[in-house]
Amino acid sequence: MPATPSAPVLAGRVALVTGAAQGLGLAMAHALGQAGARVLMADAQAAVHDAAAPLRAEGLEVRAVVADVATEAGWQQMLQAGCDAWGFVDVLVNNAARTASTPLWDIAVEEWDALMAVNLRGCFLGCRALGAHMRARGQGGRIINLASLAGQQASATTGLHYAASKAGILALTRGFATELAADRITVNAMAPAAIRSPALEALAPARQDGLLSAIPLGRFGEPEEVGAAAVFLASDAGAFITGATLDINGGRLMR
Ligand SMILES: NC(=O)c1ccc[n+]([C@@H]2O[C@H](COP(=O)([O-])OP(=O)(O)OC[C@H]3O[C@@H](n4cnc5c(N)ncnc54)[C@H](O)[C@@H]3O)[C@@H](O)[C@H]2O)c1
Repeated sequence: MPATPSAPVLAGRVALVTGAAQGLGLAMAHALGQAGARVLMADAQAAVHDAAAPLRAEGLEVRAVVADVATEAGWQQMLQAGCDAWGFVDVLVNNAARTASTPLWDIAVEEWDALMAVNLRGCFLGCRALGAHMRARGQGGRIINLASLAGQQASATTGLHYAASKAGILALTRGFATELAADRITVNAMAPAAIRSPALEALAPARQDGLLSAIPLGRFGEPEEVGAAAVFLASDAGAFITGATLDINGGRLMR
């Protein structure tokens, strides 16, 4: 008997991905779209419109919105854009972040506050705004928060404010997972490390070799591999996973 083509795993879903103008956010928006979701790509940079164009040209159903995750107004704007386009949002990927490597003695209070406003307050406001929307809709949902290896163990390469924000995201993940479980809304974190990016490739070869030597799988990760993990957590296959942290680090940290 010929095989019946199965529906894409995220058919019918509407995903909001923050920080989608580049990097992992763009890769996850692409992967979610290819898996059948309609995707609202949000970013503080207007470049998110250009980033959406090739996905649309590929036939994916994507829209773009410029909004700031650090403000409640930004979240209202993103939710409104999703609802105007498709009526609801049932997958949130809290990806937007500032990355910084300032030594702890040199972190100005203003830099601390600005980074926390995006990374930690942004994640909190997003979980709360979209969690409330998903709960009111009553059809379950998925929230995926981007943490980092830097939030799990001491890091010589990232700033302590960045590390603290990512450790805080793990706490937010557990708190919202507990709060939203009865509504069939799962909340998980993904903790990547050493994923190939322009910043990584800009490092001196000796530095890259040093990073590689600490990765048991012997290579850097690809943004598409983070995209595939987001599709899994957003799909029905991930329905019994909540409050978890999915490490995507080539074995750099084993727990
Ligand atoms: N790339 C890695 O290897 C790696 C490793 C660990 C964790 N992460 C995490 O994965 C996520 C993506 O990383 P990346 O390397 O793609 O980052 P990136 O810096 O390339 O992209 C971040 C995006 O967030 C957007 N952004 C920043 N502030 C914003 C705001 N206030 N509102 C809306 N958008 C805003 C930026 O414009 C940018 O497009 C981050 O949360 C990062 O901490 C990445």
